[in-house]
Amino acid sequence: MRRIFLSFITIMYGLSLCAQTKTELNLVPVPAQIKINAGQFVINSTTQIVLTPQNQETGNAVAIFNSLLSRAAGYRLQIGNSPLSSNAIVCKINPAISNAEGYKLSVKSNLITLEAQTPQGIFYGMQTLRQLLPAQIERPYPSNVAWTIPCVEIEDSPRFAYRGLMLDVCRHFQPKEFVMKFIDMLAYHKMNTFHWHLTEDQGWRIEIKKYPKLQQISAFRNRTLKGGYTSPDKRQWDNVRYGGYYTQEDIKEVIAYAQKRFITIIPEIEMPGHAVAALTAYPELSCTGGPFEVEGLWGVFNDIYCPKEETFTFLQNVLSEVMDLFPSEYIHIGGDEAPKTRWERCAHCQALIKKEGLKNEHELQSYFIKRIEKFVESKGKHIIGWDEILEGGLAPNATVMSWRGEQGGIEAAKQNHDVIMTPNTYVYLDYYQANPKTEPLGIGGFLPLWKTYSFNPTPAALTPEEARHILGVQGNIWTEYIPTSEHVEYMAFPRGAAVAETGWSPNAKKNYTDFKARMIQQFKRYDGIGWNYCKSILTDEE
Ligand code: ACM
Ligand code: ZN
Repeated sequence: MRRIFLSFITIMYGLSLCAQTKTELNLVPVPAQIKINAGQFVINSTTQIVLTPQNQETGNAVAIFNSLLSRAAGYRLQIGNSPLSSNAIVCKINPAISNAEGYKLSVKSNLITLEAQTPQGIFYGMQTLRQLLPAQIERPYPSNVAWTIPCVEIEDSPRFAYRGLMLDVCRHFQPKEFVMKFIDMLAYHKMNTFHWHLTEDQGWRIEIKKYPKLQQISAFRNRTLKGGYTSPDKRQWDNVRYGGYYTQEDIKEVIAYAQKRFITIIPEIEMPGHAVAALTAYPELSCTGGPFEVEGLWGVFNDIYCPKEETFTFLQNVLSEVMDLFPSEYIHIGGDEAPKTRWERCAHCQALIKKEGLKNEHELQSYFIKRIEKFVESKGKHIIGWDEILEGGLAPNATVMSWRGEQGGIEAAKQNHDVIMTPNTYVYLDYYQANPKTEPLGIGGFLPLWKTYSFNPTPAALTPEEARHILGVQGNIWTEYIPTSEHVEYMAFPRGAAVAETGWSPNAKKNYTDFKARMIQQFKRYDGIGWNYCKSILTDEE
C-alpha cells in the first residue's frame, strides 16, 4: 500500500513538473495569464494573416513575424482583410482591450485570433507567437520542421509602461548596424525603450550640424587606457586614435528601424558634467578656458560646462537639433557626477550664485538644469535626469532615473515626480555576472542573473499613490570595459531578459527557478538568431 502510494506521489509530482514547464511554455517575459489547451495550430503555406485595419502601423506589427517565417519556412503568409474562420491568424484592433500595450491571443487548432487596442499590442502578441513556434523559426531554412503553435489562451499586458535598456556608445563606439541588432533584442523581449547615451568625456557621438568641431574633434580620442583602472604612475595607454559618430542620416535610419519595432529612443546629451569631449572642441564653454583633450581615461572629471550665456546658447542649439531628430517625448540631460571644484573657483559661477540668490554650487546645478528644462518644455518635451538632479532642488517636471540604489527614486516619487528605476544594486549590466576570475575584465560589482531578476521596481517605502510615479525599469550598459559588440551582447543577456520580465510580468508570477529553466530553453533561440550571451547559468552553482 505504501509503495503504491509513493508511486502515486511520484506520478503526480512528475505530472505537476510537466504541467509547470508546459504552463510557462518557455515564454520570456512570462505572460500575465496563460491557459494551455490540448492540440495545436499548424502554419502552412496557405495560412493567411487577416489584418484589420490595414495600415502602416498594423503592417509593421506583423511584418517581422512574417519575414522570419518566410526565411525559415520558405513562404510568406498572404495578408488579407476578408474574414476567415479557419487556417488564419486573425489580427484585429479592438478598443475594448484596456491596456495600450496589452493583447489577447487565442490559439485554436483551426484558427488563431490576436486582438489588441493598438498595433503595438499586436506586435507583442506576434512576439509571443514567435516564441511559441519551434526554435528553428529563428534559423534560415531548417529542414523538416512542422510549424506548430500549441493551443493557448493568453491575456497579457505589461506591469510597467517603461521597459528599457541603456547603451553607452561613447566609451566604446558601436556601429549603427549593431544598434539596430540591439533594438531587435529589446523588441524580442517586449521592451519599449532604448536609452542612447550619446555624449561623454571620452567621445561625442551625434552629428550636430551647427557645431562641426563636435565631429572633427570631440568624436575622437588619441589614446585609451589599457587594462584595469590603476594609479597614475601605473597607467598604460594604447596610443591608438579611436572614435566615430552617427550622422543625422544614421540617426534617422535607426529611429525608423526602432519605430517599426515599437521602440522609443531616448537620446542622452550629458550636462553639466561628462563634457570633456565637447569642451576639447569648445573650451570657451568651461570655467578655465582649457585646453583639454578628449579623455582616454575612465572616471569623473572636474572640467564641466560653466553656466555662461554662451554655454546655454550652445546647449540649446544642440538640443534643438536633437529634438528635431528624435520623436521621443523625453530627452535625457544627464546631470550625474558633476564635481563642483571648478564652479567653486570660477568668478562667473560665483557671481551667478550671488545674482540668482543661490545657496551653493548644488543650487547652481539645479539652476542649470531648470533653465534647460524650461527650454526643452518650450518645445513640448520633458527632461529625464540621473538622480543627482535632486540635489539643490528638482526641476518642476523632471523625471528622475534612480541609479545610486533606489533612494533617489523613492525621494523623487515622494516629491510627486516620475521615476525610472535603474539602480546599480540590481541592473547595472556592466557589473560582473559570474566569477571575475574567469570573466573578461569588468568595471567591478557583482550582479549574477538571480540578483538582477530579484529586483522589484516598486519600493516598499512608497504608498500606493507614490508608487504610481514608478514608470518602470531599465538596465544600463556602460562600456568602459566593453570594447566590442559581441561583448555588449554578452553583458546584456540573459540579464536583459530578467529586466524585461521584471518590467512586463506581474510580480506574483516571477519565480527565478522557473525563469532560469525558461532562459536555458531561450538560449536555443538566441543561438538561432545569432546573439551572444553569458552561459554561466548552465554551469554555475547558484
Ligand atoms: C551613472 O552611472 N553615472 C549614471
Ligand atoms: Zn564657471
